[in-house]
Amino acid sequence: MKFFLDTANIDQIKEAHDLGILDGVTTNPTLMAREGITGEGNIKKHYAEIATIVDGDVSAEVISTDFKSMVREGEILADIAENIVVKIPMIKDGVKAMSYFSNKGIRTNCTLVFSAGQAILAAKAGAAYVSPFVGRLDDITFDGMELVEQITDIYGIQGFATEVLVASVRSALHIVKAAELGADVVTCPLSAILSLLNHPLTDIGLKKFLEDYHKSQGK
Ligand code: E4P
Repeated sequence: MKFFLDTANIDQIKEAHDLGILDGVTTNPTLMAREGITGEGNIKKHYAEIATIVDGDVSAEVISTDFKSMVREGEILADIAENIVVKIPMIKDGVKAMSYFSNKGIRTNCTLVFSAGQAILAAKAGAAYVSPFVGRLDDITFDGMELVEQITDIYGIQGFATEVLVASVRSALHIVKAAELGADVVTCPLSAILSLLNHPLTDIGLKKFLEDYHKSQGK
């Protein structure tokens, strides 16, 4: 399972990259706004910087909602760097845009997916990635991971090539569950990745090893 970082924050991207566990990045308009990136030129520069740090795919989301504008915007985004993947919302014109991009060899990430039916449409439209939003489903008391299970099952049975990218991840448990279900990618905040490190027995064990070492050295 690939680890993508769900942020537009350069410092966090560098930190995850330096850990050696970063396979890609996803962004969205909210995450870009959080970094205070405004204006087309600055947005393009910011994506270019992220795409240089990261070896893997970087999802850049379109703002338009009609086919023609999505195509225009997506082509500009795809031109920024080879590893840019155009993120398209799961709406009717979005499906049309994903099919268009797929035919042109431009890879897409279908975002805002909340049902198996939407995931089937994304695969039929040739999306490279489908992004089920597990945390937002949990927020409204639906089990987001149940949707991931349904999608991985369907894609397996149907032999769809679209990769399942688990998004809207809130915790280490989501990451572990995504791995159990055979998801291709999980995208999450750095805090969720770092929380995978935590176990009290590791801390207790390390403390004891170091104490014993220092005792044996007469310190
Ligand atoms: C990533 O592709 C999604 O835009 C993101 O994971 C959404 O996360 P949120 O539900 O925490 O905003």
